[in-house]
Amino acid sequence: MDLCFIVILLTFDVKSAPNPVNIAYTSVALSLHTDLVYMESPPGLQLLHCLRFDDCVEGGESTYLDLFHVVEEFRKSHPRYFQILSTIPATFHKCHYDRENPYHLVYQKPHIILNHRKQVVGLNWAPPFEGPLLVEEDDVLMYYEAYEELAKAIKNSDKILTYGMKVGDLMIFNNHRVLHGRNEFKLNDGIRHLQGCYIGIDDFKCKVQVLSNQVGDGQPPKHVGNQSWL
Ligand SMILES: [Fe+2]
Repeated sequence: MDLCFIVILLTFDVKSAPNPVNIAYTSVALSLHTDLVYMESPPGLQLLHCLRFDDCVEGGESTYLDLFHVVEEFRKSHPRYFQILSTIPATFHKCHYDRENPYHLVYQKPHIILNHRKQVVGLNWAPPFEGPLLVEEDDVLMYYEAYEELAKAIKNSDKILTYGMKVGDLMIFNNHRVLHGRNEFKLNDGIRHLQGCYIGIDDFKCKVQVLSNQVGDGQPPKHVGNQSWL
């Protein structure tokens, strides 16, 4: 069996719950972030499907930001900080034992991932899941200087998309490139329910290329993965 055609879709439900195991299952705001950043290979595509969003719910708009755009501007405005954040690894972690299935993952990698041509091919940004730096002492201060500047660029970006999802809406985005978040909300006895799932970027790229070769024009698919413009 060809593994590239196996796509396992595990769904997760994003709605407020008592004793939540994840901040996503509360009603508080979520700042812009990458999902599952503490994994060696976070999921490439994320799908969020709005199943219910009652009229009485206040707030809860989804937010998105193309971080590729932000870091390209950042490369021009702060070249030294860009270089620091593409070489010094942050520590991403999730260690949570007080739950049904204990979780313990730690992984070091830079916020900005470059290829051999110094092009940005991936980004890692998830402040709530950043742990203590495990780097040379001389690197610590300049890392945090650069980090603070990129955090400001993200927070103050005028390219943040704010969108109030409606029932039936489905947002699909590249988790290695696009940050997502949400505004705080009040349920007012209503329900806000999004259902999500992940698809590995390689599964998706493989499927698109095979279909292009078999029933399309045989050209490499454009804008499918993070290196598709090479
Ligand atoms: Fe998320």
